[in-house]
Amino acid sequence: MNIDRYQLRPARPQDLPALEQLYRAAFPEEDLIGVVRDLSMEGIAAVSCAAWDADRIIGHVFFTGCTFEGTEGKPALLGPIAVEETYRRQGIGAALVQEGFRSLTADDVTEVFVLGDPALYGRYGFTPTPVATPYAIPDEWQPAWRSKTLGDASRAMSGTLLVPPAWQHGDLWSG
Ligand SMILES: CC(C)(COP(=O)(O)OP(=O)(O)OC[C@H]1O[C@@H](n2cnc3c(N)ncnc32)[C@H](O)[C@@H]1OP(=O)(O)O)[C@@H](O)C(=O)NCCC(=O)NCCS
Repeated sequence: MNIDRYQLRPARPQDLPALEQLYRAAFPEEDLIGVVRDLSMEGIAAVSCAAWDADRIIGHVFFTGCTFEGTEGKPALLGPIAVEETYRRQGIGAALVQEGFRSLTADDVTEVFVLGDPALYGRYGFTPTPVATPYAIPDEWQPAWRSKTLGDASRAMSGTLLVPPAWQHGDLWSG
């Protein structure tokens, strides 16, 4: 990322309209606005990091703190993430993810999970991992789970990922 030109800093509650616009444009066929609104409320997301071009948000990522049934450790869920179309392929997505990792590590999060395009998240250091959720997801999505351990890799978790209320909407998991 061209760090002289863009900056990374937390999104604030008043940035919600800009985030809605960003995610609507990035996911025209999916309705993510509900989860974007829920995660934008103060204290809900573990990380809400935006990339700024001067005073304009041109990229953003959320990470949400979760729990793992019966397992020690602090997991987080990555998503959604978006970069404005004209700003893509400059490393802004990668920089947002790295900034999230840095912030989560400082907060003792041990592993980050993501359900998304494996080709994309492989680029960001995620590897395949079996994850169960209490929500039914399409069978063809199951192999798309990826995770990235933060710090000591021996702390990798497995089991059922329990997500907070913002993510407890069946349509977010049903495709
Ligand atoms: C995914 C996204 C956030 C990446 O942002 P970015 O700033 O362009 O990311 P980076 O510059 O770090 O990396 C871009 C690279 O990832 C690749 N990439 C982007 N989406 C990809 C995907 N779904 N699968 C595989 N590779 C992908 C790009 O082709 C590019 O590679 P290249 O430079 O070798 O051509 C952005 O493309 C976006 O907002 N897409 C629409 C929303 C979306 O799909 N979010 C992820 C949902 S799973």
